[in-house]
Amino acid sequence: MSIFDDVNNWEKDEGSKIISSILDVSDPVILDYGCGAGNYSFAAAHAFGQKCKVYAVDINKQCLDHINEKAKGEKISCIETVPGREDYRHDFDDDTFDLVIYADMFHGEEKKYGGLHRFVMTEEAHRTLKKGGILAVIPFHLSNFRDKDKKKCKYTYKKLIGEIEALGFSYIENDLQGIHFEKVYSPYYRQKGSVTFDSLERGRILTFVAK
Ligand SMILES: C[S@@+](CC[C@H](N)C(=O)[O-])C[C@H]1O[C@@H](n2cnc3c(N)ncnc32)[C@H](O)[C@@H]1O
Repeated sequence: MSIFDDVNNWEKDEGSKIISSILDVSDPVILDYGCGAGNYSFAAAHAFGQKCKVYAVDINKQCLDHINEKAKGEKISCIETVPGREDYRHDFDDDTFDLVIYADMFHGEEKKYGGLHRFVMTEEAHRTLKKGGILAVIPFHLSNFRDKDKKKCKYTYKKLIGEIEALGFSYIENDLQGIHFEKVYSPYYRQKGSVTFDSLERGRILTFVAK
């Protein structure tokens, strides 16, 4: 069994249970922004079946092609891929989504806003989520975040939660853990040859309700 089989199993089993526990809505509309290979999009599709609509957005066309091909192979038609924008804004109307997922999207190595894109993204989540909708943030690089002066600094979950709450959200406690999928797809780590599913990093899934 390859690591890709493990990842597919995670999407169908643990990932799908995570999404169901975050969102208790029938026929939800979901945004997975910066979806990469779409692991969280597929988890959402498995959680809600063909009843939901998942918009998988990424600036990298290869990611979208990969998702379209995989969805076709798995006969999943509820995922729609959409090209992302350089400015991290969304081409979606206000009050569209029941759930917005930002998995491994917040970090300091970002050029356009000098690592402060998380503020734009949080604003956009607030605009495009329905009132009472859920924002799920899965951050993995807290040690290289940037403060408001664009200086690298070590962040804590508490500090990040405070920032997001200040933009119109209330934090919801949970004990959910997401997976950092980067090493699965990184040629660098794959070449090193030691990537197993069990060795992938896990980190907190921070969930918020839009006020
Ligand atoms: C670290 S990966 C995270 C992928 C995925 N969310 C996951 O957890 O596996 C970041 C992704 O964001 C995408 N990205 C970067 N800038 C973007 C933008 N402005 N709009 C949409 N996607 C972007 C990249 O192409 C990449 O696929």
